[in-house]
Amino acid sequence: MDASPLHDGSAVPPDRPASAASLSSRLLLLTILFVMLAEILIYLPSMARFRISYLEARIELADQAALALLAAPNGMVSAELENELLRNVGGKLVAMRRQESNALILSDRQELPMLGKPVDLSKWMWWEAIVDAVVTLSGNADRYIRVVGPSPRDPQTRIELVLPTAPLAEALRDFSWRIFSLSLLISLVTAGLVYLSLQWLLVRPMQRLIGSIVGFRSAPEDARQIIRPSARRDELGLAERELRVMQQDLRHALTQRARLAQLGIAVSKISHDLRNMLASAQLVSDRLAASDDPTVRQVAPRLVSAVDRAIALCAQTLRYGKAEERAPEPEIIALRDFIEDVAAGLGLADDGGICWHNAVPEDLKLPADAEHLYRVLNNLMRNAIQAMPGNGDLRAAAAVSNGEVVIEIADTGSGLSETAKSHLFEPFRGGRNGGSGLGLAIARELVRAHGGELELVRTGPLGTTFRVRLPGIG
Ligand SMILES: Nc1ncnc2c1ncn2[C@@H]1O[C@H](COP(=O)(O)OP(=O)(O)OP(=O)(O)O)[C@@H](O)[C@H]1O
Ligand SMILES: [Mg+2]
Repeated sequence: MDASPLHDGSAVPPDRPASAASLSSRLLLLTILFVMLAEILIYLPSMARFRISYLEARIELADQAALALLAAPNGMVSAELENELLRNVGGKLVAMRRQESNALILSDRQELPMLGKPVDLSKWMWWEAIVDAVVTLSGNADRYIRVVGPSPRDPQTRIELVLPTAPLAEALRDFSWRIFSLSLLISLVTAGLVYLSLQWLLVRPMQRLIGSIVGFRSAPEDARQIIRPSARRDELGLAERELRVMQQDLRHALTQRARLAQLGIAVSKISHDLRNMLASAQLVSDRLAASDDPTVRQVAPRLVSAVDRAIALCAQTLRYGKAEERAPEPEIIALRDFIEDVAAGLGLADDGGICWHNAVPEDLKLPADAEHLYRVLNNLMRNAIQAMPGNGDLRAAAAVSNGEVVIEIADTGSGLSETAKSHLFEPFRGGRNGGSGLGLAIARELVRAHGGELELVRTGPLGTTFRVRLPGIG
């Protein structure tokens, strides 16, 4: 085989995808993206939690400062100590509230700024805490916040504190940066590991599969292109094994096809030369028929018809071997007379054994290729005659229906055998001794080339009817 029947010459192996579009790089990018997304989902609540912990720590410091003050005589301390305590807390004002009594304890005595809603550490919600943390981080928060929370020593005692937001925002920025660097590191490491494992588990075996498919496509006759499956037991291993079976089957089918094609050529050559040789034999047998010897004259007709049949078989095989009939060249045909000619050609007119009825209307005309139609009707009628050895009725009828000319050839023969029925219209499968089994296959091909159809209407012990449908005039 020089060129593979599958390979049309124009097909070139597909290029490998550009590196950005390749499966591996897309997987790498997606992994980084997904890990970062997961980190953001973790980061937001942990940032809110960090802010709450920061404020709780301030409340604890404020509580300790308040205690120091309570321990002082009269609850009064010097202004320096008060400032020192406030600096330690990092706040502007600390108040302690016990049951109903309210005591302002520490203040830097500067004017208090306008304060918004206090942050109550005894009842906070996640969603609000996340939003507040984001606002603080973005630098859009008020300059001071008021924080209210229970004292760590005594839950009945509430501590109030006014804090500047700038140090909190700074701490949050620090925290975020740490989380971001960590996330980046984690996602790079994870993505790298995922990439390597996908590369090893999926991408490389798939590239191997694709390589084998492309190689096989370009040279299916080359046994080396058939994939050698690895020992993998997963889905890709299965795909490799299945691909191998498919490639082997396909290669086998291609070899078979090539052999059949060669056989077909050989049969055509033999038929061709045999037909020429038989033509010489025909000349001799014709002369034998004219012999004076009565015995020779008696057997001569059988010899003549045998040679004729052999020539017809060769001619038909050759014609079929060409695979394609010439396109029909339709002309207007008067069907009744035409069919009468076919019958005469088959010796029906003077055959006493078979009763021939031509029920085709006088005026019925149809457009068809005369040579093709002759062969179609000749095949059908010859089959009918062969099915009625001795005697019987052969009837041809035709009518125009829905713009189509419908011709029916009916005989009173013994009907189609089971083999003939199951392989109807299949070449070389007819089943009758002495027949080539091509007649019906050729007839159907010719009818279809006209845009019509050949079908079996009925068959049985009482006879067989075939129907030819052909497009009518107009
Ligand atoms: N009218 C019919 N009555 C009974 N059997 C038929 C009839 N027409 C066809 N057959 C069966 O169908 C088979 C196929 O017919 P087909 O014309 O294709 O081949 P063939 O007659 O065997 O050979 P040939 O190529 O010489 O025509 C025949 O062998 C025959 O057994
Ligand atoms: Mg036939």
